[in-house]
Amino acid sequence: MSTKNFTPSAIIKKKRDKKQLTKEEIQWFINGLVDGKVSEYQMTALLMAIYLNGMTTKETAALTDCMLYSGTVLDFNDPTVIDKHSTGGVGDKTSFILAPIAAACGVKVPMIAGRGLGHTGGTVDKIESIKGFKTSITLKQFEQRLKKDGIVLIGQTKDIAPADKIIYSLRDVTATVESIPLITASIMSKKLAEGASGIVMDIKTGQGAFMKTKAQARALATSIRETGLRFNKNMMTILTDMNQPLGNAVGNSLEIIESIEVLKNRGPKDITEISIDLAGGMIHLAGLATTHEKGNAMARKALKSGAALKKFEELIKNQGGDPKVCSNYSLLPVAKQTTIVTAPAAGYVSNMNNERIGLLCVDLGGGRKKASDKVDFEVGFIFNKKLGDRVKKGEKLLTIYHHAKQNKMVQEMCGEFTSSVIKFSKTKPKLSPLLIEKKISWSK
Ligand code: URA
Repeated sequence: MSTKNFTPSAIIKKKRDKKQLTKEEIQWFINGLVDGKVSEYQMTALLMAIYLNGMTTKETAALTDCMLYSGTVLDFNDPTVIDKHSTGGVGDKTSFILAPIAAACGVKVPMIAGRGLGHTGGTVDKIESIKGFKTSITLKQFEQRLKKDGIVLIGQTKDIAPADKIIYSLRDVTATVESIPLITASIMSKKLAEGASGIVMDIKTGQGAFMKTKAQARALATSIRETGLRFNKNMMTILTDMNQPLGNAVGNSLEIIESIEVLKNRGPKDITEISIDLAGGMIHLAGLATTHEKGNAMARKALKSGAALKKFEELIKNQGGDPKVCSNYSLLPVAKQTTIVTAPAAGYVSNMNNERIGLLCVDLGGGRKKASDKVDFEVGFIFNKKLGDRVKKGEKLLTIYHHAKQNKMVQEMCGEFTSSVIKFSKTKPKLSPLLIEKKISWSK
């Protein structure tokens, strides 16, 4: 069929009516979006139709390819160039820890990261809380930095998967995030474009993840692994639990501070261990360790020795920030006003509504409600108690970092935290392990 008969509404109608789109139709729509011939409101209608009716493997592959080739596709042709990506979570700051660890072990890390999406925080928003840190550089500079420093962290550029850049911001504000084809195409169009030979993919599952159940997370892991293999990438997918924040900090600057604490070997155990697992996976995929376990041992050593912290300081300096933030946290923007939330009764923390925690951080200004919103780096939460912890009545559960003008909202938030966001039980609850399962697929 000639593409001259295509119209946005006919393609939207087809997906709305649960029919399969052809590669030509998908390509025509995505190209139109990038050229401005298809409007953003038409794209959001198609996104909702995809969200509701899904896509076949063939349609997902076509969408991924169109989004990938909407921009430049790099290829470093170097087996040691490995990236990691997460499907998004609450308090997920592993990139700031694992990237310098892996780089200190000889992996080249070309990280093109995202901004906050829905209730989840974004790596780019978080790192931008370091004044002067440039997340938008040209692709030429990106390539040069990677070759010279072995580590580079940027946001999406207009050259890399520009279609995703538009679609990502539309999904963020139109309730169309939690979709396996849309997440696969979004993540893989960026990751395949950045020229890595292998990718470690952290697929989150649980209340604070886009994939609420393990079955959905496994389906997403399969979709992502198969897409990577189609492009000859070595792939590791790891399913991790997102039923509570990762680490203790949620909020942009607060998460940077916690990441630095981990790099100084004094951070929370959960985030430290999972960062080692992910970095170990990258080292293994790069061929620098014969097993994942040996990769983990190398990662642990780089963390213990301070080599990873040094790499992080270099990364900050190379991208225009002041590495002194690592020794002087007052250089980071943190809200002066704090409010403490205490336990209403004694017991064990048995449930944390993690998606709500992410949304409460967005309410404070730590994320966006509409695409044009500016992110407030200063606000967030530090949790003193996590799932399974025993608490006494009146004991500190968390601290809210906010502005004085938000006092009324924060008072209501305190009530919500103790009445519904955090739940308590008389007996110690059974907890899911953080690392649920992993799969490695080598390209031929
Ligand atoms: N991260 C992305 O880059 N895209 C998604 O759709 C979800 C998480």
